[in-house]
Amino acid sequence: QGINMVDGGRLCNYNNFWCRVRFLRPILNSQKYFKAHDTDIIVPTLPKSGTTWLKALTFSILNRTICSINQSPLLTTNPHDLVPQLELKFFANLDHEKNIFPTSPRLYATHVPYHLLSNSIHESNCRMIYICRNPLDYFISYRFFLLENEFESEEKHSLSLEESFDMFCRGIYPYGPFWDHVLGYWNAHLKNPDRVLFLKYEDLKEDIVLNVKKIADFMGFGFSEDEEKRGVIEEIVKLCSLENMKKLEVNKTGVFSGSVIEVKNCSFFRKGEVGDWANYLTPEMIERFDKITEAKLQGSGLNFKYSD
Ligand code: A3P
Repeated sequence: QGINMVDGGRLCNYNNFWCRVRFLRPILNSQKYFKAHDTDIIVPTLPKSGTTWLKALTFSILNRTICSINQSPLLTTNPHDLVPQLELKFFANLDHEKNIFPTSPRLYATHVPYHLLSNSIHESNCRMIYICRNPLDYFISYRFFLLENEFESEEKHSLSLEESFDMFCRGIYPYGPFWDHVLGYWNAHLKNPDRVLFLKYEDLKEDIVLNVKKIADFMGFGFSEDEEKRGVIEEIVKLCSLENMKKLEVNKTGVFSGSVIEVKNCSFFRKGEVGDWANYLTPEMIERFDKITEAKLQGSGLNFKYSD
């Protein structure tokens, strides 16, 4: 009810947010049934904004005393299998009861916009670590991801770059409109910075050590002086780097199965550059986009870095 189908029926609109039709039920289930704990740490992101990186980092920070870096589960398991996506892992089949993730604090991720998170998250004191990325790199990264994966060819992602960009500018994109998703978490961060940490992919690229410390402090798992001296932060940074993750066997050959979809692990790791959009978008596209972004973000205090 109230669902407006576009894009050949693949996307639907629910409460001012666009999502893949097949994700709607799991998202609604997670909204309804997830019970947050005050100690939970949630990593909300738009896909293609650094989710995989942030999952690897938060998982490593949290588990660094349980297993040494050279025995990290990340060496043999894709980050998406270690930090489950709430709406996929638990609520696709409504068997969330038996799927309780064993770590404490529990670490989960989600792509759901702030206003559609489960009430239980809003009412609890759980912490959220949001990461976003400049919208043009986000758009290009997403396009490659869609083209790369079989779930798209099966549905046939038939839109040209121009058509797809037009949809993106109109806000009709998975988990979009982009600006609303980002502003939802940005405003939540401004209102309560102790509950919502707001990160940008470009900042992590610029100074990853500083950001790993920031993330660890926010999680309540700050590094001791001794750990800093022993180079634990640098080890985590190296383990979670794109170069390292990309060459691991599991990420070269494996498949991530999120119940609703299957995704090639290798498709999560591409270039990881700031400014790749400039290789694909025309000056006209950029001009149109700049105008929209300026209007959308006006007065918010939020801005993005578009090149290195
Ligand atoms: P590009 O397509 O621009 O290369 P997500 O993890 O949210 O799906 O985002 C994927 C994007 O993050 C891809 O960007 C990918 O290359 C990049 N990425 C994945 N793992 C990374 C890592 N460990 N470090 C830095 N960037 C990473």
